[in-house]
Amino acid sequence: MLKIKPVILAAGKGTRFKSKKPKVIHKILGKPMLWYVINAVSPLALDDVIVVVGNQRELVIEEVKKFCKNCKFAYQKEQLGTADAVLSSYEYWKNFDGYIIIINGDTPLITSETLKKATEYLEKLVNYSQKRKKDLHIDEDIAGIILTTKVDNPYGYGRIVKDKGGVIQKIVEEKDASFEEKKINEINSGIYLVYAPYLAQALKKISNDNAQGEYYLTDIVEVLNQEDKKFYPYYVENPQELEGVNDRWQLSKAEKILQERILKQHALNGVSIHNPSTVYIEPDVKIEQDVEIFQGCSLKGNTVIGEDTVIHENCVISNSVIANGVEILPNSVIEDSTIEEKAQIGPFARIRNNAKVGKNVSIGNFVEVKNSIIDESTAAKHLTYLGDAEIGKNVNIGAGTITCNYDGVNKHKTVIKDNAFIGSDTMLVAPITVGENAYTGSGSVITKDIPDNALAVERAPLKIIPDYAKRKKGKKKDESC
Ligand code: UD1
Ligand code: CA
Repeated sequence: MLKIKPVILAAGKGTRFKSKKPKVIHKILGKPMLWYVINAVSPLALDDVIVVVGNQRELVIEEVKKFCKNCKFAYQKEQLGTADAVLSSYEYWKNFDGYIIIINGDTPLITSETLKKATEYLEKLVNYSQKRKKDLHIDEDIAGIILTTKVDNPYGYGRIVKDKGGVIQKIVEEKDASFEEKKINEINSGIYLVYAPYLAQALKKISNDNAQGEYYLTDIVEVLNQEDKKFYPYYVENPQELEGVNDRWQLSKAEKILQERILKQHALNGVSIHNPSTVYIEPDVKIEQDVEIFQGCSLKGNTVIGEDTVIHENCVISNSVIANGVEILPNSVIEDSTIEEKAQIGPFARIRNNAKVGKNVSIGNFVEVKNSIIDESTAAKHLTYLGDAEIGKNVNIGAGTITCNYDGVNKHKTVIKDNAFIGSDTMLVAPITVGENAYTGSGSVITKDIPDNALAVERAPLKIIPDYAKRKKGKKKDESC
């Protein structure tokens, strides 16, 4: 196995993004662009992953540290070009007798499988060349490989110039390319595997004498070629994987491709996704078999969806655990919460802030549940707010019930015990406890604890005035006379 150290280039400004933020931390499906590149390369790494930062480096470092524990940062003071960027990381690999895999931070579509295959190919090349050297005394060295592909429109990419034997002679950047060179449609992906001692030698010889006045990393090819140290292309069949993201439209297109990969994976694992082009699922979401997801749904963060659950149209679920056999009806929003087996949620329900909705519970339309625990088989089917509440089993919450949890300064708790019956339009002014089997009368404002089995009703006496309408109309007539 070859020894590999990754160096990721992420110091550039990303001018074409037209953004206050550095390009490489822009999000794709909720994760910074660099997350994809680092994840793809990490399985190959011997130990650390080196990220070259520069432009707004504090922001980039902060984002990367959130998910990469073995990332080390090299600082490129001025963005003088990709060769200078690699040189800035020299301290990390100056004594390394292995291969540096260099990847531009803006190629989030690259996969681990392709990188692994490329590494295996390089290993074969190195072994073959060493054999030739030994057996035939041919003085030729492998400097490394470059991942290339063919595209219909190579505009903007470095073009691969090869000799008849397939060895790369040089890479010509768009702005420096001649008319003939511009016609070449084999492009440089910005992913290279280079023998570290040769890389060090070559970097020191590169000048910035070119159309952009930059130190081009691509020039290592020509420099080493002159010393009979050869680069071979590793041809990637699927050009999509090598697409660079230089502006926001390319970002949108990359997101679409990554989204399709995720959806396909879930579908092949036994999840039915209706109208997939409208469904959004982030990379860390876990979904079990026989889940059904309808159009317009978004599943975000560390969400887990259990077997046989059905999520109907336009639901948004983030960082939540949904158990087996749950039904979530259209337009419901669930955040940072847990829903247990066979619960029924929505339509138009909102569940948030560590809410725990128990087995067989029914949370209906226009019901908001915040930071509350609701035990088995309880129902709150219409127009209700349950905040900071602890609700027992088999409780019926009538339409329009509100836990008045906030006194303007502090939040207070409402406890409703098993089998209680809360009449419609009850205001429960917290802190308050409703006892087991207790009742509240409709329209009551409850300000005191209710003992078990009691009925609490708070209402002004009902007054019925006979013939009120007739009298009122008569009066009006009189007045108009
Ligand atoms: C580069 C390649 C080009 C290749 C293309 C693939 C060079 C000279 N050209 O062009 O051959 O086809 O990628 O996508 O390398 N960066 C730094 N420091 C710098 C400049 C850039 O860290 O001083 C980083 C950027 O953050 C970015 C990466 O290097 O992640 C590539 O830079 P970019 O300006 O996008 O290069 P391209 O013009 O796309
Ligand atoms: Ca680029």
